[in-house]
Amino acid sequence: MLIFLDTANIDQIRQAANLGIISGVTTNPTLMSREKAADYEATIKEICSIIPGPISAEVLVEEAQAMIEQARDISTWAPNIVVKIPATSAGLEATSVLARDNIKVNFTLCFSLNQALLAARAGAAYVSPFVGRLDDAGHDGMQVVKDIVDVFNHYQLPTQVIAASIRHPQHCVVAAKAGAHIATIPYDVLMKMMHHPLTDIGVARFSADWQRIKEQT
Ligand code: G3P
Repeated sequence: MLIFLDTANIDQIRQAANLGIISGVTTNPTLMSREKAADYEATIKEICSIIPGPISAEVLVEEAQAMIEQARDISTWAPNIVVKIPATSAGLEATSVLARDNIKVNFTLCFSLNQALLAARAGAAYVSPFVGRLDDAGHDGMQVVKDIVDVFNHYQLPTQVIAASIRHPQHCVVAAKAGAHIATIPYDVLMKMMHHPLTDIGVARFSADWQRIKEQT
């Protein structure tokens, strides 16, 4: 499972890039507004220059033709751009047109196997089931991820599944076990994935033991 970072925060992206394990970044209008990134194009271009993998930038309009035009423009910002299109009927229509133009689409705000299947048939490069928001609504978000992965594998559909709306490290564990191709993870969750109290205790003990032997010799 590849790790994408789910943020528009440039400092977080730079710090995570140093870890050497980030394969892409996903943004959305909420994440952009959180950073007060008023210059949408400049911010996305900067992210694209930091991380060489796929960078998702979302359209900011809702009608099919407007989405197509905006997506075509966004796709020229950098070679590694992926355009996020919402899982609406208009979004499906736009995805079909854009996929025929070889523009990579991340079909976002996906909450069901049916939406994911339609995205795959339309030629979306990625589909993003929102696990945390499904859990919030009383559903089993990870079961939706697993169902999508199973059906895509069964029919050998090339669309990649991005487990999105990840809220805690256990989501990452279950996404990996479910066979998600990618998990897009907020920075704080990424840090928690690495942390284990027994590692901290072990490092402190090794260090203390080594210090003691050094003092005795
Ligand atoms: O990747 C989608 C994500 O940004 C949405 O997360 O926590 O707002 O549901 P959340």
